[in-house]
Amino acid sequence: MSKEVVALFDRVADRYDEVLPFFGELGRLCVDRLPAPGPGGRLLDIGAGRGAIAVAAHARGYAVTATDASPGMVERLRADHPEFDVRVMDAGRIDADDDTFNVVTAGFVMHLLDDPQAAVREIKRVLKPGGIFAITGPGRMPDGFEFADISHALFAEFSRYLPPGGSMGEPFDELEALAEAGFTDIDETDLRIELPVADAETFWQWFQTHGTRKFLDELDADRRAQFRARLIDDLESRDRIVLRGYAWLSRGRA
Ligand SMILES: C[S@@+](CC[C@H](N)C(=O)[O-])C[C@H]1O[C@@H](n2cnc3c(N)ncnc32)[C@H](O)[C@@H]1O
Repeated sequence: MSKEVVALFDRVADRYDEVLPFFGELGRLCVDRLPAPGPGGRLLDIGAGRGAIAVAAHARGYAVTATDASPGMVERLRADHPEFDVRVMDAGRIDADDDTFNVVTAGFVMHLLDDPQAAVREIKRVLKPGGIFAITGPGRMPDGFEFADISHALFAEFSRYLPPGGSMGEPFDELEALAEAGFTDIDETDLRIELPVADAETFWQWFQTHGTRKFLDELDADRRAQFRARLIDDLESRDRIVLRGYAWLSRGRA
């Protein structure tokens, strides 16, 4: 596991998804698309963070095991949700017997792993035959989707100022990975959200509370100030400020 990735999430754990509920909303949409749990239906959430998927899955009736490699995330999730089984665990080494879970979910984590294919194999091992693996993550812009702010253009432009090896995450082909591990009934769909944002400063603060924090921390102070000023100018020129986002949901059957 990348120590740097885990250290970043430890650093942001106390505010993660608290400024704007971006991941919570996408987690809820993901869970809406899962089958209803049968009696005793068990769901394992990998890289659970502060519970974006786990909370919605528990509300839907699943018995939830929520795991994350970041001790800071696990400590907070356990304190907020004593009703879950919450554990520190690396996605690549799942501490569970074969054929244990009806569903495994992985929200915005597969692209952060050093060896995502090994994790997909582990997940298939702990799923019951016929169980579902549901992955959410970033990816190509869905047809007809438009951002409502310029941050994506700014991240692309300012990436040239990062130190070598800066930022984090690698492209991950979910459909190919599922097929390679022997999953069937593979499909994908996009999930879309739009959240009202009180003001431009709130929007900027949101970038400090998740993975983008690493990108911004790695810019030198002048570049970071330029990024911030251009984002705020853009947001304040708009009639209303909203955070529009999407995720790809990919599913396969074990
Ligand atoms: C972007 S957050 C997503 C959290 C949550 N699933 C959500 O949708 O809000 C990525 C999470 O993956 C965790 N993570 C990173 N590397 C991991 C690994 N190797 N094994 C398990 N969790 C990991 C991080 O600590 C972080 O909580």
